[in-house]
Amino acid sequence: MAEKMPDPVQVPILDLKAQLAPLRAELLAALTEVVDSTQYILGPRVERLEREIGAYVGSRHAIGVSSGTDALLLALMALEIGPGDLVITSTFSFFATAGVVARVGARPVLADIEPRGFNLDPAGLESALAGMAAPERGRVKAILPVHLYGQCAELGPIGEIARRHGIPVIEDAAQSIGASYPAAAGEKSSGTLGLMGCYSFFPSKNLGAMGDGGMVVTDDEALAHRLRSLRMHGEEAAYKHARIGGNFRLDPLQAALLSVKLPHLDGWHRARRRNALRYTELFRARGIREVTPPPELYGDRAVKHPHIYNQYMIRAERRDALQQHLGERGVAARVYYPIPFHLQPCFQYLGYRAGAFPEAERAAAEVLALPVYPELTEAMQAYVVDQIADFYRA
Ligand SMILES: Cc1ncc(COP(=O)(O)O)c(C=O)c1O
Repeated sequence: MAEKMPDPVQVPILDLKAQLAPLRAELLAALTEVVDSTQYILGPRVERLEREIGAYVGSRHAIGVSSGTDALLLALMALEIGPGDLVITSTFSFFATAGVVARVGARPVLADIEPRGFNLDPAGLESALAGMAAPERGRVKAILPVHLYGQCAELGPIGEIARRHGIPVIEDAAQSIGASYPAAAGEKSSGTLGLMGCYSFFPSKNLGAMGDGGMVVTDDEALAHRLRSLRMHGEEAAYKHARIGGNFRLDPLQAALLSVKLPHLDGWHRARRRNALRYTELFRARGIREVTPPPELYGDRAVKHPHIYNQYMIRAERRDALQQHLGERGVAARVYYPIPFHLQPCFQYLGYRAGAFPEAERAAAEVLALPVYPELTEAMQAYVVDQIADFYRA
């Protein structure tokens, strides 16, 4: 007879109820204030959050928008990127990164990742540009690095290549608000090294709304003006439209909630990193060699948040079987992302083949996100690591 399993412990990938509990009264008060104000489109709550996020990341202008996807879309629209244009990005990210490029009618040019940080490899970027004839290179209107899982891409080398070719950088900082990058001139926050940076407030992000939301930041005044206009159908004055935009406004209810959460963000980043480093230490102590913890590229650089661990991403031997084993024992582990862009059915028209970007393909087969949220307890982490040890011992 099969041995009876003890009731499984439940370790979710995220526990928003635990985050909500201590903030509940303040969040409800903020919502009530917006409800009573009857200011339901833009207005003081959105403006306040824009000032707060601008100050938090160190950017002169912040424009609240309807989602992280729309932040990216607006950034491309603000540069008037469209049919005939090319945008270089990583083949390994959430779908929106390449989806928005195609949506404005431009063509995504994909490049491989560097395997430690999972982000756009500067060498891959360089060879993508080097492989183009001069007229084609002239059609590259943006470079779009992603800071996957909460750790910055190598923005120094990427920025240097971009400057040499006169191409603007738009940062997909959807997963990395507050992550630090050790720039030559001093520490900078993700999203503020390029011409524009785009954040997402999707509920699972370190700074999550209770619905959709996003923000674009820039130091460029003229661009900020264009972004504000584009999020209101390109309006310049009441009912006078200088350009064709859309309805991309951030909801004041979401802005009010985010203003309550923002003062806690640094603490949440630190708690996630504490948990991440604890996993890494537990794997080492238990001698689990089949799992590779995520390396910190900037961990020894005395920056404020070397990695904000929106996800704690291991590489694991026999990943799919491990994920299933964990699921059966109550541990939610997720694969972000199983299919790189160049292998997505909708991007077959780009003409890439399997094998084109080996590091991204290897990552897609090996990565697994373990729960790392701030409220995760030491006992839960020990349980997760015990289940992983059991899997490889079996
Ligand atoms: C890397 C990346 N880019 C873009 C997005 C899009 O953000 P949103 O879901 O807010 O539209 C997300 C998140 O969902 C993301 O993780």
